[in-house]
Amino acid sequence: MCARLTMTSLLGIALLAWTLSGPTVAFVPIGGGASTHISITGTALLQKVKETCQAVAEASGYEFKPTGSSPEELVQACLGPTATGDVSGAKFYSALQEIYMQNGLVDRDFVNSAPHHFSSEAFLEGRSLITQGMAAIKANIRKENFQAARETLGRVLHTLQDFYSHSNWVELDNTEPYINLIRPDLPLENLADKDTATCSDCASGTCPNPILPNILKEKKLTSGYMGIFSSDKPKGKCSHGGASDLTSTAVPRGGISKDERRSDNVALHNAAVNVATAASLELLQDIRLAAGDNDFLRMMGIARSSVLSFVIDTTGSMSDDIDEARAVVYEIIDSKKGTQDEPSEYILVPFNDPSFGPLIRTTDPNKMKSEISKLTANDGGDTPEMCLSGLQLALTGAPASSHIYVFTDAIAKDIDLKDTIVALIRSTKSTVSFFMTGASSRRRRSLRAASFNDYKDLALASGGQAIQVSKKQLPQATDVILDTSTSALVTVLQRARNPGKQETFPFTLDQSLKNITIYITGTSITFTLTNPDGMTQNQDQASGQLATIQTVGNLRRIRLNSEKHTGAWKIQINSNQPYTLKVTGQSTIAFIYNFVESFKGPHPGYAVLNGRPQAGQPASLMLSVMGRKGPSSLSIGEVSLVMVSGPEAVTSGTMTDMGNGDILVTVNTVPEGEFVVILKGTDKVSNSHFQRQSTTQMSVSKVNIQMVVDSSLEPEKAFKLPFSVMTQGSSGSYSISARNDRNFPMSYPNSLTLTTGEYTNATLTITPPDSTQSGTDTTLTIEAKSTKGADSNYAVLRLSVVTKITDFTPPLCNLVTVLPDDCPADLSQCKPFHWQLSANLTDGNGTGIESITLRQGEGTLSYTPLSAPIIQADYNSSCCSQVVEFVAVDKVGNVGRCYYEIDHSAGPPALTLSLPLWLCLLVSVFIVRP
Ligand SMILES: *[C@@H]1O[C@H](CO)[C@@H](O)[C@H](O)[C@H]1NC(C)=O
Ligand SMILES: *[C@@H]1O[C@H](CO)[C@@H](O)[C@H](O)[C@H]1NC(C)=O
Ligand SMILES: *[C@@H]1O[C@H](CO)[C@@H](O)[C@H](O)[C@H]1NC(C)=O
Ligand SMILES: *[C@@H]1O[C@H](CO)[C@@H](O)[C@H](O)[C@H]1NC(C)=O
Ligand SMILES: *[C@@H]1O[C@H](CO)[C@@H](O)[C@H](O)[C@H]1NC(C)=O
Repeated sequence: MCARLTMTSLLGIALLAWTLSGPTVAFVPIGGGASTHISITGTALLQKVKETCQAVAEASGYEFKPTGSSPEELVQACLGPTATGDVSGAKFYSALQEIYMQNGLVDRDFVNSAPHHFSSEAFLEGRSLITQGMAAIKANIRKENFQAARETLGRVLHTLQDFYSHSNWVELDNTEPYINLIRPDLPLENLADKDTATCSDCASGTCPNPILPNILKEKKLTSGYMGIFSSDKPKGKCSHGGASDLTSTAVPRGGISKDERRSDNVALHNAAVNVATAASLELLQDIRLAAGDNDFLRMMGIARSSVLSFVIDTTGSMSDDIDEARAVVYEIIDSKKGTQDEPSEYILVPFNDPSFGPLIRTTDPNKMKSEISKLTANDGGDTPEMCLSGLQLALTGAPASSHIYVFTDAIAKDIDLKDTIVALIRSTKSTVSFFMTGASSRRRRSLRAASFNDYKDLALASGGQAIQVSKKQLPQATDVILDTSTSALVTVLQRARNPGKQETFPFTLDQSLKNITIYITGTSITFTLTNPDGMTQNQDQASGQLATIQTVGNLRRIRLNSEKHTGAWKIQINSNQPYTLKVTGQSTIAFIYNFVESFKGPHPGYAVLNGRPQAGQPASLMLSVMGRKGPSSLSIGEVSLVMVSGPEAVTSGTMTDMGNGDILVTVNTVPEGEFVVILKGTDKVSNSHFQRQSTTQMSVSKVNIQMVVDSSLEPEKAFKLPFSVMTQGSSGSYSISARNDRNFPMSYPNSLTLTTGEYTNATLTITPPDSTQSGTDTTLTIEAKSTKGADSNYAVLRLSVVTKITDFTPPLCNLVTVLPDDCPADLSQCKPFHWQLSANLTDGNGTGIESITLRQGEGTLSYTPLSAPIIQADYNSSCCSQVVEFVAVDKVGNVGRCYYEIDHSAGPPALTLSLPLWLCLLVSVFIVRP
C-alpha cells in the first residue's frame, strides 16, 4: 500500500532529503525553521530568476505577472506573451535539482576538506575554490555548456554559504556579505594568524559567543577547526563544534559553527543565514551580469522547452532523406515561429564514412536553416556509416531530456559504441527515434535484420521509435517530429512486445491532456481502440469517430479527435510480430525523477546515482511533480516501476513527502529487467485521474563504479581521475572501457580483477589538447563489464576544460563628464531636457573588454571600439530617466559596473568616487553629493 500524499504549497523550493536524514553539520533545519543549504540556495535562485525575468520583460515591453509562486507559473510568465498555452516547468525543476544535488554533494565528496567548508582557517584556499569555480561557470556558459555550469554553481554556493556559518564574520557584527570572497582582485585582510588564539574554553559545548574579546575588538577573521578523524588543532583556536568534530573536546572546547539553530545561538544562526542568502544573491548577480540575462535564464532551464536535434547520414543515397529533413526543419521553424512551441535550440550532426560531426548547435533558426541547407549527400563508399558516433555527439551536446531524430539508410559501422550510447541515453534521459529508409527498393546495400534491431534496441531503451519507411513514404512519417516539438510533451503509456501477442492495454486520459496521439510500430497489426463510453474504432477506419489513423511503413499514428476524452481508455492489439505502443499528449502535469542513494557521515544526504542502481537492494528515487498550479494542485496516488517489455508486473514504492512536490520513493522489490517509472494521481484542478510514464528504461546491476571530480581540466595538462569498481557478483576479470565525445587522449587499465564486495581502485588519465578552448566540456563514459558480458555498469561525468585564469581584474569605469548637471527634480517638467554622461572604460592589464551593456536607464549608450586600451562610453538621455547603469565584461567574465544617478540635493553638484558598498559588482560608484 502506498501512502497518499498531498503536496503543500510553498514557494517552489525543493527541500531535499537533508531535512529528513538526521543531524547534519551544514545549515540544518531546527524546530520550525528550515534553513538548509538547499533552502538558502533555493531562495537566492528563485529571487534572482524573478529579477532577471522582470528585466527581460521590461526590455521586451511586456509585463512579468506570474499567476502564482510555483516554478511552473514563473516559467510561464517569464516566457512572456508567446506562452499562451501549456508550458512545462520540468527543465527549470531539473536545473534547480542539479544545483541542489551538487551543493549537497560537497558534504559527501569533500567531507574532510577544510577549504570546501571554510573550516580550519583555510580562507585563501576556500576563496580560491569560489573564484576559480566562478571563472569556470562563466567559461562554460560562454560555450553554452549549461549543465557543467550548474554543477559547479551548486558546489561553489555551498562553500560560499559555509563561510558565514563556519567563520566569525557575523560575530564581528557584519550584516553584509564579505565581497572579497568573490573578488579575487581584493585582498583577504586581517586574518587571525596561526599563533593567535581565537576562542575561550566552553565546557558545556554550547556558549553563545566564545570568540575572544580582543579578536572581536580587532575585527580579526577566524574560522572553526574541524577534525573528523583527529582532535588536533593549533593552540587556542576555535572549533567547529558538534559531535562529529573531535577538536571540539580539546580546549578551548565548544564550537562556533552556526549550522544549527539552537536556543543559545538563534541570533547568530539567523544572521548567518541572512548573510549567506545575500552572498548567494551577489554571486548569482555577478554570474548573471557576465552571462547576460538570456543565457543566465537558459542556464536555469528557463527557455522554451522544445529543442530540435537531428543526426543525419550524408552518404550518397541519402539525398531524398536530407531533403525531407530540411523540409521538416523549415516547416517547424516557419510554423512555430513566435509561439511557445518554437524550438529554443537547434542541433545538427551530420555523419558519413568515415567522418562524423561536427556538432552544430545554435539558437538562431536562420543559422539552422542555412546549416541544414548546406548538407548534401556525397558518397562515402559502399560501407556502413558512423551513425553511433554522430548520435554520441548529439546525446552529449543536447540538453537532457531532448528528442533526437536519426535519419539513415544503413547499418552502423561503429556498433561497438552501442553500450556507450545506452549509458548516455540512461544518463541524459533523451529519447532517440530513427527514420530508417534502408528497406526501400532504392537502398544500395542489404540491410541485415540484426542491425536494424540495434537501432530498435536503442529506440526502445530511450522511449523513442524506430520507424522503417521507404524513401518515398518518409514525408508522411515525419509528422512524429512535429508532434514532439512542443513545450509540454508527456508520455502516458509505453509498452513493447517481442514476440507480439494479443493483449489489451488500459490507460487513463486526464482532462489536462491535449493533442493526444497514439503510435504503434510493427507489422501485421490489428487493433481496437475503446473510449470511456465504450465506443470503438479499429485499424481499418482511417477517419473514425474516435481518431484519425495514418499508416506509413511500420508506423501507425492515431490522433484522437475528441476534446472530451477524460477517463479510462483501452487498446487491444493483435499481432504475432514484435510491436511497440506509445500514448502521448501535451500537458503541464509532468514529473522528473532521479535514482538516488543515501550517503552517511557527519553530513548525510542523498546523491544522484551516476549509473544503474544496485541489484539486491531497494531502489530509491527522488521525484518532483509539476501541476498546472504547482505541485499543490496534484495529489499523488502511486509511484511504481514497471517493465516496458515484460509481463505487467508492477512494483509499487513507498513514498515520503519531502515538501514542495518532491517525493522520495523507495521500491523494495525492483523488477528484473528493463523498467520505467509510472506515476498515478489526481489533478485537483479538474478532479480527474492522471497517469504519466518515464521514457528511459533502467535496470539494476551488481557492478558499481565510483568516480568524483571537482576541479576543471586545463589544456595540455594530463588530468588524473581516480575511480573504483566493485561487484556484488562473481569475482574475476572485468573489462574497462572509457570514451569521451571529443576524442581527448585517455589512458586507463583495460581490465581490472575484482573481488566480490570490495572496491578496486584505478586511475584514468585524460589530456585535453593544447587547442581546446576555455569552457569546452567533454562527457566521459566509463563502463565495466564482466568477462562473460553478463553484468555491467557505467558512470558518466561531465568534465570542463578551463584555461588557467590569471586575469582577475574587472574593467574599471572612470567618469569624465556629466552635462548638464541640472535636470529638473520635478519629473513632470522633464520632457524637454536632456543630459549626457561620458566615461572612460579600461581593463588595465586584463584580457580586454568584450562587451558593454546598458542595464538601467532609457537613454542611448554608445562607445568607441572595444579593441582600444581606453574605451570612451557616451550616454545621452532624456531628463525623464535620471539613473544610468552599464556594465563592462572582460574576456574571462570579470564584471565592472558604471552607475550614475542625478542628485537633487541642495547645493552645487560635486562628484565623488566611492568604494564598492554591499553590491557585489561595483567597481566604481559615482554619486553626486552636495
Ligand atoms: C494540436 O496540434 C496542432 C498541430 O499538430 C496544433 O495546430 C494545435 O494547436 C494543437 N492543439 C493544441 C490544443 O495544442
Ligand atoms: C581506494 O580509494 C579509496 C578512495 O580514494 C581509498 O580510501 C582506499 O584506501 C583505496 N584503496 C586502496 C586499496 O588503495
Ligand atoms: C579619458 O580618456 C582620454 C583618452 O581617450 C584621456 O585623454 C582622458 O584623460 C581620460 N579621462 C579620464 C578622466 O580618465
Ligand atoms: C600592470 O602590470 C604591471 C607589471 O606587471 C604592474 O606594475 C602594473 O601595476 C599593472 N597595472 C595594473 C593596472 O594592474
Ligand atoms: C541626445 O538625444 C536627443 C534625443 O534623441 C538628441 O536630440 C540630442 O541631439 C542628443 N545629443 C547628443 C549630444 O547626441
